[in-house]
Amino acid sequence: MPRPQILLVEEFYFAKKEWDDLACIADILVCDSPNRESFIQDCASKYNNITCIYSSWRSAEITGVIDEELISKMPRSLRFIAHNGAGYDQIDVSACSKAGIMVSHTPGAVSRATADTAIFLILGCLRNFPQGEYNLRKGSWRSETSVEIGNDPNGKTLGILGMGGIGRSLAERARIFGMNVIYHNRQKISWTNNARPLAEYVSFEKLLAKSDVLSLNLPLNSNTRHIISSLEISKMKRGGIIVNTARGGVLDTVALIEALESGHLKSIGLDVFEEEPHIPRQLVENPRVLLLPHMGTYTIEAQYDMEKLVIENLERAVEQARLITVVPEQKGQQEHIMTKRRY
Ligand SMILES: *[C@@H]1O[C@H](CO)[C@@H](O)[C@H](O)[C@H]1NC(C)=O
Repeated sequence: MPRPQILLVEEFYFAKKEWDDLACIADILVCDSPNRESFIQDCASKYNNITCIYSSWRSAEITGVIDEELISKMPRSLRFIAHNGAGYDQIDVSACSKAGIMVSHTPGAVSRATADTAIFLILGCLRNFPQGEYNLRKGSWRSETSVEIGNDPNGKTLGILGMGGIGRSLAERARIFGMNVIYHNRQKISWTNNARPLAEYVSFEKLLAKSDVLSLNLPLNSNTRHIISSLEISKMKRGGIIVNTARGGVLDTVALIEALESGHLKSIGLDVFEEEPHIPRQLVENPRVLLLPHMGTYTIEAQYDMEKLVIENLERAVEQARLITVVPEQKGQQEHIMTKRRY
C-alpha cells in the first residue's frame, strides 16, 4: 500500500522533532507552487494523491482563500485540512463539508498567548500608556495636558464577546486584576468543576451597556462580520474601551474611528485589522489607540503548541482517518461528512 501523502502549504518552524516523527508514517510533500494558478495545475499532477493539507494564514498568500473554486480543483484523494490557527476564516468550511473534506484548527494552543495580549491591550488602554509612549518617543515627558490620568482595572467591568478558550483564559486573568467579568456567547456556558463561574452570562445588549472594556474574542464568519458597528458602539458607555485580538473584520473600522474621534470611546487596543497589514492613518496617528501588528500568538511557546496540535491532527488523520480538533461547524458530523462522495 502506498503511504499517505501530506502536502505542506506552510513551513514548520518549531516542532522539528514531531515533524520528523510524522515523516515516519506519511510522505511529506512540500508545496512549491508559486501562486494559485499553478497550485491548481499541480493539484491535477504532482499533488494528485494527497490525503491531507497543512495550511495556515500564510498559505493563503500562495493559494488564495480555500473557497468553493479551489476545493473543486483539489484532488479527490484529499480528505483533511489541518489548519494552523484558531481562526480559519480563509477556509470555506461549508464548501469543505459538501466536498467531504474535514477541517481542524488549533484552539487551546493559542489561548494563553492571545489572552495575555488582550490583557496587555486592556491595561494599556485603561492607563493611557500609548499616550505616554507617544510623547516620550517625541522627546517629551509626561504632563497632565499630554497624558490623561488613567484608571485601574480593579472594579471595572470587562465584557467578553465570545467565550471560547481565549475568552476563558482572558476571564481568568482579568479576575486576578480585580475586574468584574461578564460575557455573551451563542450559548451560555455550563461551568463544570468550577464552584464559581468565571464570568456572568448576559445578553448582547447588556454586555454593550455594562462593559467598561469590551473584548472581542469570537471567530470571524458571515454572522460575526461587523458585529460591532456604530449602533452597537452607541449602546456602550461613553468613555468605554474596545480591544480586539480576534479578527479585524468583527469590528467596523469606520465606526470605530468615528467613535474614537467623537470621544465616545476613550481608547482602543487592536492586534488585528480589517485589511492587514494596512492600518488607517486615523488609527496610526491617534495616541489613544494602542496598536500591535497581529502578535497575539507570536511566542515560541504558542507557535510550538500550535504546530504540535496540527501534527497530532495529521497523525490521527493518517492512522485513524479522523481529526482531533475539528472546527465547530463540523463537530459531530465527521461520519456524515466523511462518507460523502467527492464530486
Ligand atoms: C498516485 O497514485 C497512483 C496509484 O498508486 C500512481 O500511479 C501515481 O504515480 C501517483 N501520483 C503521484 C503524483 O504520486
